Amino acid sequence: MLLALSTGHAVGLAVVAGAFIAFALVSALVIPRRRPQYPGKHLGWFIVVTLVFFVGMLAAVEIFGAESEETAAETGTNRPGMTLPEPPPPPPAAQEGKAPNGKIVFSAQGCSSCHTFKAANATGTVGPDLDTALKGKDAAFVHESIVDPNKVIASGYQPNIMPQNFGQTLTPTQINDLVAFLTQSG
Ligand code: HEC
Repeated sequence: MLLALSTGHAVGLAVVAGAFIAFALVSALVIPRRRPQYPGKHLGWFIVVTLVFFVGMLAAVEIFGAESEETAAETGTNRPGMTLPEPPPPPPAAQEGKAPNGKIVFSAQGCSSCHTFKAANATGTVGPDLDTALKGKDAAFVHESIVDPNKVIASGYQPNIMPQNFGQTLTPTQINDLVAFLTQSG
């Protein structure tokens, strides 16, 4: 512990402790040789002095010890029990869809019944084969094809066959996941 104290505080503690120990040793070993009766009738004084030393020692630990804690806190010394500042909250999750979740949505929403898409084991033939139709298409196009299918009609196909309301029935997360699945697995 003394190592953790600044030099001044360590010296202060050592001086008080040293005086305490010196007094105890002198009282126990030196004085009784010359005056076997010690402390004898001065017992009251002896107790008072002992108490003063005892309280002084406690005060010294309290003062020098406590101040060193403050110094440690100021200098940022990492002491056990010191609370560290909370880490900043992680940034909000990017609106990047998750392809594995998209695969689940694809099957659950019946896309497979109309579309062929190998990654989903889908073999539907009502709509375009998405393995070939989406080659080279970006996420924005795929997104639009799902939420607004009539905007661009795939050549050779009729409008209004693909459900027009996926934009309402699916959550933005589900749509992003679908887009990720379709663009990454194609
Ligand atoms: C009832 C059949 C049907 C269902 C169900 C269906 N689609 Fe379609 N889909 C079509 C048809 C027909 C087309 C072609 C006409 C058009 O472009 O709107 C199409 C077009 C698309 C296109 C554009 C392809 C291109 O080449 O432009 C994408 C992408 C697509 N669908 C994805 C999906 C997804 C994802 C689902 C499920 C959430 C789904 N579809 C459900 C019938 C369907």
